[in-house]
Amino acid sequence: MKIHAQRGTKDILPDEAFLFQYVDDVFKETCHAFGFQEIRVPTFEATELFARGVGDASDIVSKEMYTFEDRGGRSITLRPEGTAGVVRAFIEHGMTSLPLPVKLFYNLNCFRYESVQKGRYREFWQLGCETFGPESPEADAEMILLLDRFFQTLGLKEVALEINNIGCPVCRPQYLAALKDYFAPHLSDMCGDCHERFERNVLRIIDCKVDACQTVVKDSPLQEAYLCADCKEHKATLEHRLDSLGVKYRVNGRIVRGLDYYTRTVFEFISEHVGTQGTICGGGRYDGLVETLGGPAVPGVGFAMGIERLLMELKATNTPLPTPSKRDLYILCFPDTRDAAATLVYALRSEGVGADFDIMDRSFRAQMKYAGKGDYLALIVLGEDEVKSGMAKLKWLDSGDEIESSLSADLLATHFYSKEA
Ligand code: HAM
Repeated sequence: MKIHAQRGTKDILPDEAFLFQYVDDVFKETCHAFGFQEIRVPTFEATELFARGVGDASDIVSKEMYTFEDRGGRSITLRPEGTAGVVRAFIEHGMTSLPLPVKLFYNLNCFRYESVQKGRYREFWQLGCETFGPESPEADAEMILLLDRFFQTLGLKEVALEINNIGCPVCRPQYLAALKDYFAPHLSDMCGDCHERFERNVLRIIDCKVDACQTVVKDSPLQEAYLCADCKEHKATLEHRLDSLGVKYRVNGRIVRGLDYYTRTVFEFISEHVGTQGTICGGGRYDGLVETLGGPAVPGVGFAMGIERLLMELKATNTPLPTPSKRDLYILCFPDTRDAAATLVYALRSEGVGADFDIMDRSFRAQMKYAGKGDYLALIVLGEDEVKSGMAKLKWLDSGDEIESSLSADLLATHFYSKEA
């Protein structure tokens, strides 16, 4: 019986891998321009990290984690997101005492046991950034501007930015109390999960996808009316910076985000092309998270963006994308020139030319057919005459152009690159 990839996971085949690499390259360049450094963190962590960090009342922790006991009896979880692991590393490696801000970016795979649908997988990839240190909304603005730059470089035009401020520990309790007062008389019309959310984290009700619950949510109070003076100022300063730099956005008082660590700014980049949820990228500020995870009181802000959803958006909007280039050079040989071909191929590879020769024991004719189909830019026929004379023709397949060259790898490489440059 054939074994298939698991539901919600997918193989990233060469053409798609090329596009993953492309967006990763553009992302890295953008992060570099904004002064971010790369971090890589482990795929699995202690379950407690996510329970404490992301919040055990969140859907991600309560319903979607891949959690198991390892052979040593520890509770382990495949990361459902990157922020908690990056914060753990930030604390664990004493980065809290580095000159602040510390600005990190990452590209990592995440695992969530979600119902699989368009744009929603059980293993997916995130590009993300986290800044530690600044309390100032300049850091929130910088995240959004980095994303704006990134989308512009990719040529994406149709993603819309929505922002909100969900308050801080000073003003949120009043808002949560107002939400409870509002939802209490409607609970009998709402789903079972929302009854639980009402008890554990009433803010989560706003994100419920059930129609009956959304009907109630529609008229629920907004955080804005309950913001304290500091949060109001934070919100105004962020909006001023976005305005001053010409970034378009919409204030959406219903964005609360699905993770419990957020304070003040939250934002999402959304599009109609990426499935029911429409979110390509989400992020916000998490001023209490470093402390919650055992570090000092260092504020943070960040975002993550799903690579699969980003690629869906790029394709759906017909944004021009690069295509993989052809392979470089194929050397055709005969049984008695096979040794010479092998020597030449490995020497060319050392010169950086992508050279190949027959490793299938094929006849000359079959090699010819393969070279034609194999998408090579150029070929060399290495017969007895060529080996004896030390000279051969480097032939370009598209144009039919030829150059007669000595068989030295560095000269051939020079000819090849001068034409391809
Ligand atoms: P998130 O909104 O849970 O935030 O995920 C960020 C992005 O990951 C989403 O906007 C989406 O593009 C992608 N994503 C999430 N779930 C799936 C899925 N099942 N299939 C495909 N793509 C998915 C976070 O993860 C936060 N850690 C972001 C953050 C960083 N906030 C502050 N710093």
